[in-house]
Amino acid sequence: MRFDIITIFPELVTGVSDHGILRRAQQAGLVQIRVANLRDFAPDRHRSVDDRPYGGGEGMVLMPGPLFAAIEFCRGEPQSPGSRVVLLTPQGKTWTQEMAAEFARVSHVVLVCGRYEGVDQRVTDTMVDLEVSIGDFVLTGGEIPALVILDTVVRLIPGALGSLESSRNESFSSGLLDYPQYTRPAEFRGLRVPDVLLSGDHAVIQRWRKERALEKTLKNRPELVAGPVCRK
Ligand SMILES: C[S@@+](CC[C@H](N)C(=O)[O-])C[C@H]1O[C@@H](n2cnc3c(N)ncnc32)[C@H](O)[C@@H]1O
Repeated sequence: MRFDIITIFPELVTGVSDHGILRRAQQAGLVQIRVANLRDFAPDRHRSVDDRPYGGGEGMVLMPGPLFAAIEFCRGEPQSPGSRVVLLTPQGKTWTQEMAAEFARVSHVVLVCGRYEGVDQRVTDTMVDLEVSIGDFVLTGGEIPALVILDTVVRLIPGALGSLESSRNESFSSGLLDYPQYTRPAEFRGLRVPDVLLSGDHAVIQRWRKERALEKTLKNRPELVAGPVCRK
């Protein structure tokens, strides 16, 4: 799988993608992560990528010229059938674990990071397959959202997680939030690990975990259990 990330701040992306699981997945050849500096696609010697909005208003907007050129370069021109171009924007569809699982089966994803007031609408209308938001709030740029997508997708690629990590029983994988986790020591500042976890009875532990997962989900995210399907 390959990711191309288009940004005016490449170091913001590589500062994260060169570490941990993302780094290991690249070294293992499971994913290729390339970062394109949008300014490299600017036609003028000042490497300008933004301009004032037509119709007035505050701030700047990323111009179509450099973005069209960068997207065409990264996704291939014409677009290859296996490529998906995603624009990070608070106006997009909210990113979910389900979408991450779907994207883990895509061969090539181009992530376009906005800045300032966003990108010229002609880019969205003609170059973008999907607009994605990471939540109902506004960040200053698309780099953190792009990293959220990158991280959530890569950890679902078979082999990306080491033997000590697993994505199988995590929150959302079964429709519920995860159960509470404990580790050594069994007692810390008078706080004891629940006896059931020390019992060695795996069937009882499984049942206890399911109950706690349901309890936590009902408390923090009741809408997850209100739907017609609850699989855990
Ligand atoms: C300050 S925001 C622009 C917000 C835009 N004017 C609006 O109100 O929808 C600058 C850039 O940050 C990114 N961004 C901000 N919040 C985001 C979110 N919740 N999800 C995804 N991207 C976001 C987008 O790439 C956006 O173009």
